[in-house]
Amino acid sequence: MMTFEIKHRDAMGRIGILNINGKKIETPTIMPVVHPNPKKQTVPMDLIKKLADVVITNSYITYKTPNLKEIAEKEGIHKLIGFDKVVVTDSGSFQLGVYGDIDIDPLEIIEFQEKIGVDVGTILDIPTPPDVDREKAEKDLEETINRAKRSMNLKEEKNFKLLLNGTIQGSTYLDLRQKSAREMAKLNFDIYPIGAVVPLMEQYRYKDVVEIIINSKMNLPTNKPVHLFGCGHPMFFALAVALGCDLFDSAAYALYAKDDRYLTERGTLHLSELKDLKTFPCSCPVCSRYTPKELASLDKKDREKLLAEHNLYITFEEISRIKHAIKEGSLWELVEERVRCHPKLLEGYRIVEKYLPYIEKFDPISKKTAFFYSGIESMFRPEVFRHKKRLKRIKYEKVYITNVSNTIQKPYHENLNVLETDVDILIKDPVFGFIPYYIDTVYPLSQNEVPELYEYEKEVNKKFQNEFIQWLKRKIGEDNILDILTYNYYINYFSKKRKIDPDSLRVRKMLQYQYGYDVLEDEDVKVVRSKNTGRLRQVLDKNGDLLFSIRSNDNILIPSEKGAKLLWERIPFPKYRVVVDREVENFAKEGRNVFAKFVIDCDEELRPYEEVLVVNEDDELLAYGTTLLNGIELMEFNYGLAVKVRGGIG
Ligand code: GUN
Ligand code: ZN
Repeated sequence: MMTFEIKHRDAMGRIGILNINGKKIETPTIMPVVHPNPKKQTVPMDLIKKLADVVITNSYITYKTPNLKEIAEKEGIHKLIGFDKVVVTDSGSFQLGVYGDIDIDPLEIIEFQEKIGVDVGTILDIPTPPDVDREKAEKDLEETINRAKRSMNLKEEKNFKLLLNGTIQGSTYLDLRQKSAREMAKLNFDIYPIGAVVPLMEQYRYKDVVEIIINSKMNLPTNKPVHLFGCGHPMFFALAVALGCDLFDSAAYALYAKDDRYLTERGTLHLSELKDLKTFPCSCPVCSRYTPKELASLDKKDREKLLAEHNLYITFEEISRIKHAIKEGSLWELVEERVRCHPKLLEGYRIVEKYLPYIEKFDPISKKTAFFYSGIESMFRPEVFRHKKRLKRIKYEKVYITNVSNTIQKPYHENLNVLETDVDILIKDPVFGFIPYYIDTVYPLSQNEVPELYEYEKEVNKKFQNEFIQWLKRKIGEDNILDILTYNYYINYFSKKRKIDPDSLRVRKMLQYQYGYDVLEDEDVKVVRSKNTGRLRQVLDKNGDLLFSIRSNDNILIPSEKGAKLLWERIPFPKYRVVVDREVENFAKEGRNVFAKFVIDCDEELRPYEEVLVVNEDDELLAYGTTLLNGIELMEFNYGLAVKVRGGIG
């Protein structure tokens, strides 16, 4: 039995709870590779147990070693290796990849993994190396898919308890990776590892690895964990997690230690490079206890064990750092830090731009922390891409275009010497393209930090800005677009012409941006500002009843029950809807949360953390709340929370 649910998220990364046979694992996590022969294990099992909730070992080696096989068959794999939490096994595919041939039948190894009580086994997939002839890649893939089918049939026929890894192959042919993911997805595996990336990682071909991850992810179900097979270097974890990888395995911690190599989250060092330092650049128990000189003077075996321990600590430390970044919404910032550790990593990260239309679908609409610009790549982040798309949601009538220095304090409208007017003011922004004056408090338009930019960085968005103006011209006519050269001219001109209350105009435009519909059109509202801060707080209707509160950190409008009813009237079905089964209709009306299992339809364009309406099949409004899942995931997940309900419609 396996369930997987999302608890927190950022970028395409997620903190998930993976429940395997009643044992819980929080993802993303790393599975230390342990040797099936406890005598060959470098790091003591006690330390592995302290750090890991899941390990991976090798069923093929166990099968091939008579005394290990005997114990495993009699007492089970958990007893053999001395670990009672989740045990995953690999199948011998890796040995197949290294030695070219192994002598075991693909079904025999599945039977064996079941027999020794493995929690998650692996099919005997064929790891095709990079850059092989296309024919070979196709033929290998066909065989892997064939074995996958036979393995799943066997499991079903014999009612096997073990869960199975269905590995994605296809060498460096991206269409084959896509096909592999599609075909494996049909077979309903429990976990999807992405295979044969080890040679690419060893050659620093991160660009290829990124392409392979994304092309696989795009064709895999969102509700299953993805394991990046053979990636054990912490330097790559942040980027891999941001692309949706949930599991890693590490033999690296022990292998590197054999050669006196010291892992850090920024790369690998040789012990000899460190020996002049007074202390290690780490404060794990090993590094606190020994100086580099002391460690270097130990005999080979002790040195190897201690280095392996350090390597393991540092690996888990990076996982914790990534989880923290997901919770606070700074995963892209962490990625941008890590990819600067090697130009090849940076090159890999730059591939993200090509896939923004897909990646953006998973990136939360709001984050706890501000958007930090760390270099030109930040211009191509999902938050920016989304904003440029959503700019077209706003209704423009007459537009004035102005230019300000990007170093002016944000929100712009509080710091520009400009009077509020009835017309739209589009402020040219070097990162976000344009920032409409009236929505400039909404995340991330004022929740961002950007240094003074170089001229070449300012050029990046020129093309977008020109295209957007062309779009505007077609929409509202050239006569309605003007450039503003001086604010004085502007103040005098507009202060006389103002017709509507600027705060009402502001919330109306904020809602256009948030939902893509003019929810407050012809609506007579009163906007309340905080007495302390002067910031927008609430939108009331003409009777003084609350329609929306304005969340202070991101200026997203949060509907009240009345506000939800208004949204429901003004936004056509199925937009911003999550449709639930009749079975839970009353629960929803009582204000109880909606679980993914009961979602039968939804607006497929929903993004994580949007404010949504919960309805039944006849579009009767039941409740309103925040969706944890996007439109794709809402349909695919059958487990865990879908909408955190704020209130039911009484
Ligand atoms: N370990 C590292 N890469 C692979 C792979 O492609 N398949 C399997 N089964 N194990 C691996
Ligand atoms: Zn250390």
